[in-house]
Amino acid sequence: MKRLTVEVCIGTPCYLMGARELIDDMSELQNKYEDKIKFKTLHCIEERCEKAPIVKIDGEIYEEMTPDKLREIILKRI
Ligand code: FES
Repeated sequence: MKRLTVEVCIGTPCYLMGARELIDDMSELQNKYEDKIKFKTLHCIEERCEKAPIVKIDGEIYEEMTPDKLREIILKRI
């Protein structure tokens, strides 16, 4: 089965704007749905830092992400 790829930007602006919280929150989901989610980090997506934190889900870019929003999107897609 294809896993959902979730990539959190950990460039400095994204990190300062909450990427750390996203990663912490994701680790719980990651443990629970290990076979369904592939979790990665990346550095600066196409200069979108203004809308930090940025997350890419299966290649689709989401801006100003929050832990609640991310959780909701992931649970809908797995
Ligand atoms: S640091 Fe995340 S998009 Fe630039």
